[in-house]
Amino acid sequence: MRVAVFDTHRYDRDALEAANARFGHALTYFEPRLTLQTAPLAEGFPAVCSFVNDKVDAATLEVLHAGGVRLVAARSAGYNHVDLEAARRLDMRVTRVPEYSPHAVAEHAVALVLSLNRHIPRAFSRVRDWNFSLDGLVGFDLAGKTVGVVGTGRIGRVAARIFKGFGCNVLCCDVAPDAAFERELGVRYAPLDTLFAESDILSLHVPLTPGTRHLVDAAALARMKRGVVLVNTGRGALIDSKALVAALKSGHIGGAGLDVYEEEEGVFFQDLSGQVLQDDVLARLLTFPNVLVTSHQAFLTHEALANIAETTLASLQAFERGEPLVNEVRAEQVLRAR
Ligand code: NAI
Repeated sequence: MRVAVFDTHRYDRDALEAANARFGHALTYFEPRLTLQTAPLAEGFPAVCSFVNDKVDAATLEVLHAGGVRLVAARSAGYNHVDLEAARRLDMRVTRVPEYSPHAVAEHAVALVLSLNRHIPRAFSRVRDWNFSLDGLVGFDLAGKTVGVVGTGRIGRVAARIFKGFGCNVLCCDVAPDAAFERELGVRYAPLDTLFAESDILSLHVPLTPGTRHLVDAAALARMKRGVVLVNTGRGALIDSKALVAALKSGHIGGAGLDVYEEEEGVFFQDLSGQVLQDDVLARLLTFPNVLVTSHQAFLTHEALANIAETTLASLQAFERGEPLVNEVRAEQVLRAR
């Protein structure tokens, strides 16, 4: 099938080309993100392949639909960037990759915790400058600390297991608690407020929905333990970034590891090193010594890229053959999650 693949970088193309040897789709790669402005590039293609920072809103879908597109294959787990209601109205199908490597993302969340706690970025740049002083690099033992895992789906569960391995006391929160998981791993489900109040480390693993937008706002930050390390590998808008800046300035938050940022579209995945950063909130976040930002790279492992490519190309094949779309997402799912 002819597919317009948007927002592609070398690593995407390498993985898709390798997997496509089995499928034989005609993939056309476009570097820009899929937006209202770039949607006309897909004219004449029956399917587009999108990524997390594409803006597949109603207006974009209408342009795609007019150009003949009937399938949006998101090569991501999250699908908050696609207006599913508009897709339903236009009778367009949407698929995603629900599970490609929960390990990749959970391990990155833990890497952020370890790097922040043990000041690895500061230590790295210091010793490269032949500064071997240890002042300001004191961390804490993870063993015995309380970790709050918000969302115990595929990724949150792996994160909980890793933190248990460090000897942490793990508190979990989920709209659908799993008693068997709780018993098996020796974790405890508790309300979100309890996680905020008791956690030394908080790791966010819920999807972005209208109900989880700014889950961590000024009031939530105020309820957290002083010195808490907050990690977000979910979606940027789970955290009110301006409120986070204020909580960091006051010293209430001990550290923030952010793989995602609410205004990351058009910034993350790009090399803007020769330009002036226009986002003042992101610029301020980057000035804190206890903030570590990565550019939405938690998914970026060889295993995850290969699985993303395989699942996406299989969805395209199923659509082309008129077979059931096992990884389809529908508007009703989002309504249920609200
Ligand atoms: P999942 O669907 O397996 O798990 C999500 C869990 O969150 C479910 O157990 C659900 O019941 C729970 N949940 C939903 N709303 C909730 C709420 N209001 N309060 C408490 N729990 C709630 O999803 P998975 O695979 O674990 O991924 C989680 C998120 O991670 C994705 O939605 C995506 O946004 C993000 N992600 C980020 C990546 C990155 O590279 N940074 C890569 C992959 C996913």
